[in-house]
Amino acid sequence: MKCLLVLVLLAAAWAQEDVLPLAESCDREACQLPSCRCSGTDIPGGLNARDTPQFVLLTFDDGVNVININTYRDLLFGRLNSNGCPAGTTFYINHEYTDYTIVNELYNNGLEIALHSISHQTPDTYWKEATYDDMKMEFGEQRHQMSHFANIPIDAIKGLRIPFLQVTGNASFQVMADYGLVYDCSMPTVNQINPGLWPYTLDYASTQDCVIPECPTASIPGVWVLPMVSWIDLGGFTCSMVDSCFSVPPLTDEDAWFEFIVTNFERHYSGNRSPFGFYVHEWYISSYPAIYRALARFLDMVNNLQDAFVVNSAEVIDWVKDPVPVNEYRSRPCRTWQTTTCQRQSCGPLSSYHNIWGAYWMQICNACPNTYPWLGNPLGQ
Ligand SMILES: *[C@@H]1O[C@H](CO)[C@@H](O)[C@H](O)[C@H]1NC(C)=O
Ligand SMILES: [Zn+2]
Repeated sequence: MKCLLVLVLLAAAWAQEDVLPLAESCDREACQLPSCRCSGTDIPGGLNARDTPQFVLLTFDDGVNVININTYRDLLFGRLNSNGCPAGTTFYINHEYTDYTIVNELYNNGLEIALHSISHQTPDTYWKEATYDDMKMEFGEQRHQMSHFANIPIDAIKGLRIPFLQVTGNASFQVMADYGLVYDCSMPTVNQINPGLWPYTLDYASTQDCVIPECPTASIPGVWVLPMVSWIDLGGFTCSMVDSCFSVPPLTDEDAWFEFIVTNFERHYSGNRSPFGFYVHEWYISSYPAIYRALARFLDMVNNLQDAFVVNSAEVIDWVKDPVPVNEYRSRPCRTWQTTTCQRQSCGPLSSYHNIWGAYWMQICNACPNTYPWLGNPLGQ
């Protein structure tokens, strides 16, 4: 009887340990940069807007492969900001239909490789209901997978975006803390767009609106949220991905699209300079050449501004941790990255256990896997 009681008490203590502490309202004294920041629209470091670099974040989601690489080469490779440093772009990449030799090429051109899950499976309720273990396999293990097949340093992989922006409560953020991921860029805000919400950590409770529940409510120290500050479309409605805006200019009207982009940019640039996102899928700009040209013109415009910079998303987190005025930022040396090579291999046919009808081929750097890599077996051993 006594023994049973002890077991029950032990089990209770065990269960208790799994419960994360609820985040409390932010303590501005205790929560200080570089490791902690309360959520808010205040500019990091208390800078004036005119002294604050305006960061522009261009991001693309989903697989990278021969279908979309030419867009990326043409639009992005060799692009420089006005300080002479390479412009950035972040790719949220899922495993399936990804050519890892192209991931290696993007990385070696100084662009940022981030995670978008191994399975990217439907329906989106899978993501809403996913457990810690699911998210560990989708993102924690994907970091290793990406580094392995693309032959890039694991430390270069810092960010993630959950498919369909369907946040999974605390789970993915817990996985981030446990697997060394730095920031999440999955959570839109529609309430804090003017002025816009700056990145913050999850040490304390966030003031961000939860557009697609469940949002994290636990205290998960040191993990950064890079909020997706929504656009406003021509009908006055908000949209977090450009290709999900409803009321847009005619798809063939380059000038109207340029104006549409600049109008949304201006809200940030003449406001509190919170990072401005152009979040999109490649098919959208390759299907509509006028939108592609408008985007290229917009990037050229920003590249010519003295106080605005197209950067990798991870660079924004680095700046927020150590906010310096734009003059100082401009005079800093450019970021560098450790270049790597790719021993190209075409692997297949590979059998897979999640799709018994499919035989897969993979383009990778390094040695071929034995089976098609998937959840629970990210290296295909
Ligand atoms: C997140 O963790 C907090 C604190 O333990 C808890 O109250 C909340 O229910 C959790 N959220 C989800 C969706 O499980
Ligand atoms: Zn996606």
